[in-house]
Amino acid sequence: MSLPASFDLSAWSRAKQSQVEQALAQWLAVPALTRAEAKPPVALIESMRYAVLDGGKRLRPLLVLAAAEAVASAPLEPGPGGAGEAALRAACAVELIHAYSLVHDDMPCMDNDVLRRGKPTVHVQFGQASALLAGDALQALAFELLTPGFDCIAPQRQAQLCGLLARAAGCAGMAGGQAIDLASVGLPLDEQQLREMHRLKTGALLLASVMMGAACAEPTPAAQQALSQFGATIGLAFQVVDDILDVTADSVTLGKTSGKDAQGNKPTYVSLLGLAPAQAYARELLAQAAAALAASGLPDTRALSGLAERVVSRSS
Ligand code: IPE
Ligand code: IPE
Ligand code: MG
Ligand code: MG
Ligand code: MG
Repeated sequence: MSLPASFDLSAWSRAKQSQVEQALAQWLAVPALTRAEAKPPVALIESMRYAVLDGGKRLRPLLVLAAAEAVASAPLEPGPGGAGEAALRAACAVELIHAYSLVHDDMPCMDNDVLRRGKPTVHVQFGQASALLAGDALQALAFELLTPGFDCIAPQRQAQLCGLLARAAGCAGMAGGQAIDLASVGLPLDEQQLREMHRLKTGALLLASVMMGAACAEPTPAAQQALSQFGATIGLAFQVVDDILDVTADSVTLGKTSGKDAQGNKPTYVSLLGLAPAQAYARELLAQAAAALAASGLPDTRALSGLAERVVSRSS
């Protein structure tokens, strides 16, 4: 396959982001309340919309779509029945799980944060019970998107995508990592323990984004293996950089309160290694991710490698 000479990551991201925003808004639409028996609690939908729409870098959906296109070796257009439809649903499903994890992460029983994506956190805006329920309902909606009751995703692919997402979100993934995070306050974790916590609480969902995207096309075993290595590596890099930004960036830039890790006595890569070594480690992980992509045998991984670079050089 001959590749177009240049690849514009910003233009590619803008186009994909706009598809994702549109799809998320549509799946979180407030239904017209014409049929009393189908009437959902509108206040709950409002809190879900608040948590998901108008904010966030959408990195996970972009990874899903980049991985799907890399494996398919072609741009994927959304439309019923194709890999594009599966990839768009997978992209939105991962973002819904991520948004739910943020809503719960910010609650007073966890990190007790008041600012997220430049707005008051969901529990500040709507109350704790609503925040809890918004998270619950977002998680359920994620799996609803992956299991359309008509044949726009092959049944076997639906099951595969659900399995990948469920494992990444559950106790062997994000929720388990969050439990380790809470149990580790004030503890001097060694590098291996910290890496395991980061791998679960954040890395698992980034890895799942890549693997779900890949699963929407037909990866060779070699590509699957390489993408798995890539996803795990950028997943860890992502949280190392999150730890760094908590120290180096201000709250306005981050859209969340900076300095919270030290304040909450959380073990981080900065507290373990120091700032400059943590930054060097993030660059080293980026090099490892690039090596994994090079070993994938995929003809065009430019979107994936651009996103990996973005993970490490981002300022928010
Ligand atoms: C923040 O994730 C939470 C972590 C897993 C570290 P992001 O930095 O991707 O947050 P948004 O989606 O852009 O708000
Ligand atoms: C949260 O890690 C990871 C999640 C699963 C949400 P952090 O607690 O460091 O995320 P931020 O810094 O609040 O975004
Ligand atoms: Mg946390
Ligand atoms: Mg937090
Ligand atoms: Mg953080």
